[in-house]
Amino acid sequence: MTIYLNGKYIPIEEAKISVLDRGFIFGDGVYEVIPVYSRRAFRLTEHLRRLQHSLDGIRLGNPYSEGEWANIINELISHNSGEDQYLYLHITRGVAKRDHAFPSPPVKPTVFMMSNPLPNPPAELLKSGVCAVTAQDNRWLRCDIKAIALLPNVLLRQMAVDAGCAETILIRDNAFMTEGAASNVFVVKGGKLFAPPKDNLMLPGITYDVILEIAAADKIPHEVRRIGIAEVYAADELLLTSSTKEVLAITQLDGKPVGTGKPGAMFARLHKLYQDFKRDVMRAK
Ligand code: PDD
Repeated sequence: MTIYLNGKYIPIEEAKISVLDRGFIFGDGVYEVIPVYSRRAFRLTEHLRRLQHSLDGIRLGNPYSEGEWANIINELISHNSGEDQYLYLHITRGVAKRDHAFPSPPVKPTVFMMSNPLPNPPAELLKSGVCAVTAQDNRWLRCDIKAIALLPNVLLRQMAVDAGCAETILIRDNAFMTEGAASNVFVVKGGKLFAPPKDNLMLPGITYDVILEIAAADKIPHEVRRIGIAEVYAADELLLTSSTKEVLAITQLDGKPVGTGKPGAMFARLHKLYQDFKRDVMRAK
């Protein structure tokens, strides 16, 4: 596998960073995950805009222009095989003597990017849906920043895995749903799609935006507003979205069936529309 590190395209085994890198010492950095379909980065402008928002949030200058990012990304795609890939892009505040405050004068940020194969979600998962558990959202108040400091998300997601499930749905203040540990979550009730608002308590998902655009274009009734915990438990359907999972039905929550316990009509419709959208936008040559 060829990766990108600080201006060089090298085999992953040769990639080395300093133990004093602030990403290693403090988790002081941000990242992006960008799907690649038919060897083209999906929604690149939107991903780069969110990257800029994350960099602004941690007060770190963007090392590259949009055009430079596009060139690096395209070159990395060309170094790796596979029609569909996913790119992991990671920027830290660089290497400096250990001190919590920013290095002064600033040092060069560390920029790392790798590409992995992007498998289609397995057919049986699409057919059966996945199970999820709920947990208190105990993260910080800047969940809109795609920070590499993911320890809360790691611990929350592991709760799902320990329960034999795919995702943990996060509940803030014992009152309302924010998102999943590594995904966004939608509720379906009475044929209507509900999404939590993009605020500081959740990551503004690129897939989330695509789903809402698709819903609007196909005249699916939808509303963006806070979703109370009782509404999550009373949902006809629950859906999760992310760049690597696309859209999946959550058919069991905390050991109880969601709605009928099978992927529902809204899932089927949105999944098909998402595939159509991908094909029309990404596969057309
Ligand atoms: N995670 N919320 C959180 C906390 C996430 O980590 C992610 C994605 C999302 C969905 O965002 P998007 O649709 O832009 O992928 C929401 C990625 C896939 C990851 O960390 O691997």
